[in-house]
Order: sequence, then C-alpha cells, then structure tokens
Amino acid sequence: MRAAVAGVRWDVGGLVIVDQRRLPAEVVEWRLDSVDEVADAIRTLAVRGAPAIGLAGAYGIVVGLRQVRPGSVEAALESVRAIEERLRSVRPTAVNLSGSLARVRRAAVASGATSPEGVVAAVLAEAVAIHAEDRDATLAIGRHGARLLADTPRILTHCNTGRLATGGDGTALSVVYALAAAGVMPQVLATESRPLLQGARLTAWELRAAGVDVRLIVDSAAGAAMSGGLVQAVIVGCDRVAANGDTANKIGTYQLAVLARHHGIPFYVAGPLSSFDAETPNGHAIVVEERSADEVRGFGGHATAPADVPVWNPAFDVTPAELITAFVTEAGVLEPPFGPSIATAVALGAGNATP
Ligand code: MRU
Repeated sequence: MRAAVAGVRWDVGGLVIVDQRRLPAEVVEWRLDSVDEVADAIRTLAVRGAPAIGLAGAYGIVVGLRQVRPGSVEAALESVRAIEERLRSVRPTAVNLSGSLARVRRAAVASGATSPEGVVAAVLAEAVAIHAEDRDATLAIGRHGARLLADTPRILTHCNTGRLATGGDGTALSVVYALAAAGVMPQVLATESRPLLQGARLTAWELRAAGVDVRLIVDSAAGAAMSGGLVQAVIVGCDRVAANGDTANKIGTYQLAVLARHHGIPFYVAGPLSSFDAETPNGHAIVVEERSADEVRGFGGHATAPADVPVWNPAFDVTPAELITAFVTEAGVLEPPFGPSIATAVALGAGNATP
C-alpha cells in the first residue's frame, strides 16, 4: 500500500503539505513559499510527526535558497547554514528535524558545486533521497511489525504515526496497514491524544479512510481497555530514541507503557533509524518541548478551563527502555539489551548515510 494522503510532497512548484490543523473537517494543501512559512507550519503542527517534520526541514532549505537567490557558492552555503539554524530549534525533541537539516547541509558542502544553482540542486537531491529512504523504511517497518503482531491484532496506538506523519505508510500505523494487507484484520483502539487530538482528528480519520477497524477512546480509558481484554499489544511511534533505548514520544506514551507492563501486554515502539540518536546517551539528555498553555486551556477557540489557570504542557514524555518490549525498525526487530542491538542497527544504517 502506498500513501493515499501524503503529509509532505515536493512538486515542481515547491513544498506542499496537507494542513493537519484542519483535519478531519477538510483536506487543504498549503504551499510553503518561504522559510518563515516552513517554520510556522512546523511550529503550529500544520505539518507534524517526526519523519514528516524532517522532510519539511530538508525541503525547507530548498525553499529558503529559492527565496534568497544567493549570488555565489559561498553565499549559498552560508544561507544553507542560516536556514538550518533557523529551523532546527522550532521543534527540538524529534531528532529527525535536526538530523535531516544537518544531512542536507553536509550534502551541500560535499557536493563541490561550482554555482549557486549547483548547491540548490545538491540540496534538493538530498531532500528527495531522505524522502525516498523514509518511504522505504516505513514499508520495511510494516513488514517486520506485521510478522511480530500477526497473532495479537487487537492493538492500541497513540497519537498519529501514519501516512500524514511520515514520507510513506507510517511507523506504528504502517504495521497496522501491513497487517490489513495480509488479511489479518487488525482492530485498533486509538487514543484521542490530548491536548491536540492527533489520535482523534488524524488517526481515526486516516484509518477509517483506509477501511481499517478503528475505535476511538479517551486517553484515560486505556487502563480500562487493557484490564477489559481489549488490547493484545501496544504499538507507538517515536520522536527520539536514545542510545540506551529510552524513548521520547507523544505525551501519554509513558503511562501507556506502565499500564501495558502491569497488564502483561507487549509494548512496541516503531520508528526508522533516523529517529534514533546515538549522540543522546539516555532519556535524561532528551530535550522535551513545552508548548503553549492555551493548548490545554481550550480547544478550537472554546475555553475549557479558566483563562488564567497555570498549565504545564509538555508535548512529549520519555518512556524508559526497561518498559519497551522491542523496537520495530527498517533493519528488523531490535530486542533487549537495547544498547548493543541499537548500536548495531544504527552502525549498519550509517553505512548508507551521507558523510
Ligand atoms: O507533536 P506531534 O504530533 O508531532 O507528535 C508526534 C508523535 O509523537 C509521533 O508519535 C511521532 O512523531 C512518531 S510519528 C511517525
């Protein structure tokens, strides 16, 4: 199965995203013509999901170069560095954003381009390569995960990890699509994923459009669903996996892992190796993005809390490696002890990376 609704695409005209803020009410595309627009789209979650923001960042460098029209190779490379600097900090937790930006910058430098147009061509070629690799990785994740979950198709998932969030079929949702394609008929419980409702607005919409059996639950129903026998496996995506396997993902993931352990249910994390960060030793070193209090005080322009109530709104949490049963990556299923299994997979993956 190929992506029916691609969250990010490059066409001759430039970078086009599906504006995920407007789903499920309407499917509206937005062409991003400036670095400011790319930054805004990433910051406001018009484009979201770790691999998708990595792609938006990579193509965003092309957008920025077209905007600036540098007059020399040196000016072009300086612009690449400036755009990388600008976009990298917009969302700090997912390593895919900083990773893609750095990879494109390295490709621009290594290209040996002799004209500014040559730098633009090298940057675009690298962004397209990252996109193709991500699409292939999602399909491989689906294949590996479907073998793992074939006998446990009553699945709980969190946030949105599908075709909107990646360059292909998704991470955790790619496993769901692969199960469906194999005739296993997964039954998916999707959590709402407060406060921005990626599960309700995006996963429920995406899976229904694909004809997958999906039921929506409020986040706080997860424990009851597990104790009631509705869940045979939990599978989620990831924004940054540290070298020891500690994993940052959408806020609420950690409590799902604790609940799964309590109920003896396997807890899987699906993600491409581009979401693994060998430079981050453990979860304590992961920077967790904190977002606006207004996301918690209201929704869709309606107040759901006193306007002045203090709020703590971390966008992600960190699940300790000891609560994770296995990682599903394009390189296969990684089992504990995660330090060595992750290091081996990342080293093999690095063989394909741009120097
Ligand atoms: O804040 P978001 O919506 O970008 O958070 C997304 C997630 O946490 C996903 O689970 C993660 O990026 C994996 S998506 C393939």
